[in-house]
Amino acid sequence: MTAKLLDGKAFAATVREKVASHVSKLKSEHGITPGLAVVLVGEDPASQVYVRSKGKMTVEVGMNSYEHKLDANTSEADLLALIEKLNKDESINGILVQLPLPDHLNEDLVINSIDPVKDVDGFHISNVGLLGTGQKSMVPCTPLGCLMMLREHHGSLSGLDAVVIGRSNIVGKPMANLLLGDSCTVTIAHSRTKDLPDVVRRADIVVAAVGRPEMVPGDWIKKGATVIDVGINRIPAPEKGEGKTRLVGDVDFATAKENAGAITPVPGGVGPMTIACLLANTLTATCRANG
Ligand code: GUN
Repeated sequence: MTAKLLDGKAFAATVREKVASHVSKLKSEHGITPGLAVVLVGEDPASQVYVRSKGKMTVEVGMNSYEHKLDANTSEADLLALIEKLNKDESINGILVQLPLPDHLNEDLVINSIDPVKDVDGFHISNVGLLGTGQKSMVPCTPLGCLMMLREHHGSLSGLDAVVIGRSNIVGKPMANLLLGDSCTVTIAHSRTKDLPDVVRRADIVVAAVGRPEMVPGDWIKKGATVIDVGINRIPAPEKGEGKTRLVGDVDFATAKENAGAITPVPGGVGPMTIACLLANTLTATCRANG
């Protein structure tokens, strides 16, 4: 059997179209244009690529994009002062501070200084608590994108056995909370989990978010299970020529697709959904701010 491909690129495009259509209505009927501020400290190349692409797509759906690029040596006080200014600015509905931050900056302190209503990443401790107790919150973009793909494929997730591999604050933990909210039986697995292959073999839904290239082999996947691969890992590809690389997920796609019922490819699976969900969160924040 070969799995159905869950096409995140196409799905993300439909999410962005819906956001754009809401933004257009907000503008014409209420004179409101959502604004997203993205703060980048330093010159991490991967972060620069993400921030550029977030800015471009923000403008494409008709929102205002504000980029704040700060020197790598920026003091914590200066960064907090900028966030305070953005918190008070009524033209800004969403604030995102790109992570990781340089070592001299306290990430928790910085994230928790963002107004929770404008926290479109869903990383503020208030939003983490609201999500954990099943209340209305801002939901982190990558797990939200995964949940949307799972709902689209399954309809109801109620009663399904789900395993989330990885326990990060950005993906693993919020993903587990979201799946629990949809009445899955959830296991969070990690590097110390005993018998990981057996845990994965029981799952109807496998979400892999560990950042280790192809660590989940296809024979761990139950026949017909749905596999959501959050990993984006660059590995050497000598077959493409000297010094060439290619992107792979945390799951061995070639073997997993023979057992899975549905699977996300890498690239073109979860990745494009993350920015689409950031835009959806910015729209949500704008609507909540304006009643
Ligand atoms: N760095 C990697 N992923 C993310 C994300 O989703 N949000 C932010 N702010 N930084 C990141």
